[in-house]
Amino acid sequence: MSLQVQPHVSLKPYNSFGFAVRARAFAQAQDDGQVRAALAYAQAQQLPLMVIGGGSNLLLTRDVEALVLRMNSRGIRLLSDDGHQVVVEAEAGESWHPFVQWTLEQGLAGLENLSLIPGTVGAAPMQNIGAYGVEIKDVFAGLTALDRHSGELREFALEECAFAYRGSLFKQHPERWIILRVRFHLQRGAVLKLNYGPVQQRLQEQGISTPTALDVSRVICAIRQEKLPDPAVLGNAGSFFKNPVVSAELAGQIKQQHPDLVAYAQTDGQVKLAAGWLIERAGWKGFRDGDVGVHRLQALVLVNYANGTGQQLLALAQRIQNDIAARFAVHLEIEPNLY
Ligand code: EPU
Repeated sequence: MSLQVQPHVSLKPYNSFGFAVRARAFAQAQDDGQVRAALAYAQAQQLPLMVIGGGSNLLLTRDVEALVLRMNSRGIRLLSDDGHQVVVEAEAGESWHPFVQWTLEQGLAGLENLSLIPGTVGAAPMQNIGAYGVEIKDVFAGLTALDRHSGELREFALEECAFAYRGSLFKQHPERWIILRVRFHLQRGAVLKLNYGPVQQRLQEQGISTPTALDVSRVICAIRQEKLPDPAVLGNAGSFFKNPVVSAELAGQIKQQHPDLVAYAQTDGQVKLAAGWLIERAGWKGFRDGDVGVHRLQALVLVNYANGTGQQLLALAQRIQNDIAARFAVHLEIEPNLY
């Protein structure tokens, strides 16, 4: 089918904050051919091309002067299965959580800790999504991307993706690569990662001593539902700031004044601080300014109550950044992509 391009489309349904900015042009791609058609259209119209997935890691502060292309390709397949190790491939437009559920229903373990993360399969490697001790890079088996410069397909192996904490090569160069499909190493028979305290605690409380991947997924869904607002109900983009990584010296200074600081030692000697803790301690948790605010249960999540704008939310984020810098000498980096 040929690509349908619509002019002046509201992006409200396509970003999880629910900000009502408009795209100069909008289209949805079901397959590689339509992605190529969108590239050609944008070039012919001399418009930039902005590719989006679920729009759940996106802060839109103004109308988008571009062709916005929503990846909507579908398809999940087993590429190999030796009875233990399995490689699964999914198209970029598949919604992440239903994909995770599908793998669990097939008896495949590996993605359970990443349950209920909003967004799509294609967006997952962009920011190396992570939760409860697992990141995409831990289960990543490769991806296929379209090179916007040459128009050729390129296969990426793990070591070529520059995966980092909420970062990757693809996040660094969004104008270069369009992720078309992603592959994952999964296992029959669970090798579970349970080092995140609250997950273990929940399982114990429920009397589950030898959990399955489905048990872990169920517990993680419950924890997320308690703390993180559902974007379908309250606009948000998950964690709004990255957890900052600081020198051991600075972490020590803060800890002297605040012994209950939540901090995690890194292998390189630096220390990762819980940004949610810093923001809560600075008094912002539950703060509301008009229609934007800081979630009352998780200070790392900024929310749009209904009719807020991206500019209002960004202004609030900057106030928080300035306050945290003044109080703790720590810079908070914004996590979602900003437009
Ligand atoms: N905390 C507070 N106050 C708050 C929020 C958190 O004191 O308002 C403390 C908690 O008590 C806890 C610590 O901070 O001791 C960490 O909190 P939590 O376990 O909720 O995780 P997080 O560091 O705030 C990160 C990820 C989440 C991921 C969770 C679980 C980032 C930026 N965020 O949040 O990812 O789900 O860990 O692994 O790394 C996302 O990226 O959108 C996201 C939700």
